[in-house]
Amino acid sequence: MDRDQAIAHWGAAAEAIDWVRAPRTILDDSAAPFYRWYSDGQCNTCHNAVDRHVAAGRGDELALIYDSPVTDTVTYFTYRELRDRVAAFAGGLRELGVGPGDRVVIYMPMVPEAVIGMLACARLGAVHSVVFGGFAASELAFRIDDCQAKVVLSASCGIEHARIIPYKPLLDAAVEACAHKPAHCVVLQREAGPAELIAGRDIDWELVAGTEPAPCAPVAATDPLYLLYTSGTTGSPKGVVRDNGGHMAALYWSMVNIYGIDPGDVFWAASDIGWVVGHSYIVYGPLLRGATTVLFEGKPVGTPDASTYWRLIGRHRVKVLFTAPTAIRAIKQQDPQGEGAAPFDLSSLEYLFLAGERADPNTIVWAEELLEIPVIDHWWQTELGWPAIADFAGEGFFPVRHGSSGKAVPGFDIVVLDEAGEPVPRGEMGALTIRLPLPPGALPTLWNNDAGFREKYLERFPGYYDAGDAGYIDADGYIHIMARTDDVINVAGHRLSTGRMEEVIASHPDVAECAVFGVRDDLKGQVPLGLMILNAGVDRPEAEIADEVVALVRREVGPVAAFRQARVVSRLPKTRSGKILRATLQKIANGEDYKVPGTIDDPATLDEIAPLLRSAEA
Ligand code: COA
Ligand code: AMP
Repeated sequence: MDRDQAIAHWGAAAEAIDWVRAPRTILDDSAAPFYRWYSDGQCNTCHNAVDRHVAAGRGDELALIYDSPVTDTVTYFTYRELRDRVAAFAGGLRELGVGPGDRVVIYMPMVPEAVIGMLACARLGAVHSVVFGGFAASELAFRIDDCQAKVVLSASCGIEHARIIPYKPLLDAAVEACAHKPAHCVVLQREAGPAELIAGRDIDWELVAGTEPAPCAPVAATDPLYLLYTSGTTGSPKGVVRDNGGHMAALYWSMVNIYGIDPGDVFWAASDIGWVVGHSYIVYGPLLRGATTVLFEGKPVGTPDASTYWRLIGRHRVKVLFTAPTAIRAIKQQDPQGEGAAPFDLSSLEYLFLAGERADPNTIVWAEELLEIPVIDHWWQTELGWPAIADFAGEGFFPVRHGSSGKAVPGFDIVVLDEAGEPVPRGEMGALTIRLPLPPGALPTLWNNDAGFREKYLERFPGYYDAGDAGYIDADGYIHIMARTDDVINVAGHRLSTGRMEEVIASHPDVAECAVFGVRDDLKGQVPLGLMILNAGVDRPEAEIADEVVALVRREVGPVAAFRQARVVSRLPKTRSGKILRATLQKIANGEDYKVPGTIDDPATLDEIAPLLRSAEA
């Protein structure tokens, strides 16, 4: 698409949205490489996601189904009920002083109140930042501080499998650690594990329904709707900014054209609101389209068994399911024949979409054979907000090619570049980039960090966005994603920074140096493995130190990191300039062929370490 085509395409896409003031400028490139879409438009995302459908006479149709096997609850919300709950809660937030542009951190399990909290912020023009519940207190504290949150919304506990996970102590520890203290914490008391509230700071969720429901506040299309922190190479997560107007136009377009969803259809993204998939396809996408979204508080296995997904599809007549390959692997591992699906009527299910990590062909084939529907791998990232490489449900569908995530989605000009920034021939691997401008919905910048946005994404290849992935485009235009080019690993579809884990391990008093990298795991795709050199003179048992390091990562990063393996080594292989050869270590641990890099300082270090890594793999 050239510039004029892009303007025509996104101008037409914007017509699907209700605007307070329709944009006349579709693409503002006056400050390139900082592009803005719909820069003179005014709108409100909550209006488009909720009120608009009530006003159109669809108030009695289902907006959200909360299905929670862990609490044995199924609750249905019509669009009218959702509107009333959101407006009332927004009124309460307003009474707490939350207004346009204020930041609200949401640290909650998968309960309807979390969605209500997000939409209430959108209604007021406030900016939410959801933090995944599996992150530790210090990760939460970083995010509260970085965005200077005025209010935090949380819950007394989460429920993981059958375990109660108290959230409140994590919240308290985070607020304690913050330099910037939020004025209030609003806490949802859950029957499974209520918490004690701190007088003056904490407020019971039930008390936050304003005396006056709040109306939708008009905001600029370019105002931020939310921030979502994501892992990068360094220990500090990056605050991805999502705006209002471009986000709505892009998500709406994707619901129609990628997922093939009509108003009234049931769409289920089995992810978590703490991740971008949850933002785009549990909350905003389906609601903008006037469809019914499923909010699932459970796991693919163990809540209570490997047939839960199939039970939900049958029960709610789900048309499209979106999940991570790891979830399908988990089901397949426990029920290889897929017998758990037999009792349920899955005839409503038309497509299964997978994303978040590489979809291995075995998993795809298993799902195709079981469900007898197209299984579509597609690729995107927190930064982009919606799929950049995909296949299309319904119109535009082309045959799936296993091992590929599909073809470039209109609006994303995907180019594979070599080290020198030159496009490589078809079939050759290189850095996956997107020619600027990125389409609506993709990040306009990082929170309070324009320089970081340039440096992390735009500087390596001027004129292109560097996705941080390596891949190739085959002769037919199918795109294959092969690996990350930075220190991000993917654990059960969760994006994590090995740099952050290294920072934590290095803080252990006995550790002199360390390296963390991802090793292959049958269930989670990758899990982290840490190697560490101890300080001279430390003579405590290595196993004891390793256990402490594992506990430290769990405490500082969170259980979601699934960091369970730490090993002591005497040396780490490095280049002559001192860079640890993590990629080579990873290959050895995965049992893959590897070349000794020409830049290695001392090849003997690899010979020393290889047997240890091979035993890690075993
Ligand atoms: N709140 C608190 N703790 C959480 C949490 C949350 N929201 N989410 C995860 N955790 C904890 C888990 O309890 C677990 O703790 P443990 O080490 O004490 O067992 C740890 O974090 C790892 O969780 P998880 O990644 O969910 O692993 P699991 O072993 O419990 O389950 C799968 C494995 C494959 C079933 C699970 O990862 C899964 O369902 N993945 C789906 C993928 C997905 O939703 N991806 C999102 C991107 S699309
Ligand atoms: P996140 O920002 O958490 O959505 O993670 C994005 C990263 O996950 C991408 O940059 C990829 O490395 C990886 N990823 C997401 N989807 C896919 C996919 N379909 N195939 C391969 N890798 C993927």
